[in-house]
Amino acid sequence: MANRTPLIAGNWKLNKTTAEAVALATEIKSGADAAGSDVDVLVSPVFTVLAAVAKALAGSKVFLAGQNMHSELSGAYTGEIAPTMLTDVGCSHVILGHSERRQYFGETDEGVAKKTKVALDNGLLPISCVGETLEEREGGKTMDVVGRQVDAILKAVSADEATKVVIAYEPVWAIGTGKVATPEQAQEVHAFVRKRVGDVHGPAVADAVRILYGGSVKPDNVKGLMALPDVDGALVGGASLKADSFLKLVHFDKQ
Ligand code: 13P
Repeated sequence: MANRTPLIAGNWKLNKTTAEAVALATEIKSGADAAGSDVDVLVSPVFTVLAAVAKALAGSKVFLAGQNMHSELSGAYTGEIAPTMLTDVGCSHVILGHSERRQYFGETDEGVAKKTKVALDNGLLPISCVGETLEEREGGKTMDVVGRQVDAILKAVSADEATKVVIAYEPVWAIGTGKVATPEQAQEVHAFVRKRVGDVHGPAVADAVRILYGGSVKPDNVKGLMALPDVDGALVGGASLKADSFLKLVHFDKQ
């Protein structure tokens, strides 16, 4: 991996009450701070606990992310959260276009691209997700689908802005299934995504952009994934819900 700082990000999805989230964040804070500055660490809890988790993480190196946001800053959008509300409670990042949002909540390539731009405009660093379903992979459509998703995101931002976008490749068939992509499968798609970034914004941007792998990342497979030249980190669901397994991922070089 060039000069890209690895990012280990925990997506807590729809889990943890305030007390549980604060307890987990507190454990992660002490373990992650011991990791030093050579790895970035991030957690993404549900909206209702963000303020409490921000307080628990105060003074630590652990970044905080929302799991979604709306593209408008205010107005008649019942149930939505604005980017400025995420920064207001201490978020530095936001996860956008997770496959669960695309699958269950009708998020589109255009919508995810728009949110990526709006996040940047409002001081949030987007972690924008892409990935193919099993049917798409088996139908030989992986590169078509991922290429289309990545292009939409890249075309919504300038080259300068693109360097701040984190792209997460999460094959849908590997999420929560225990079926991790093989190193060859992950590297093939990551290299393809990086080339696509280069095609749209040039080689310097392609070299700078961090591309995370997500989908059944666990302590026993993280080292092999992180050794791949185009894998710059992990977006983790299940294994991020317990401090000991998440901290093993943060310290992936020691696994
Ligand atoms: P799992 O690590 O549980 O497979 O989830 C991956 C994911 O969706 C992270 O965003």
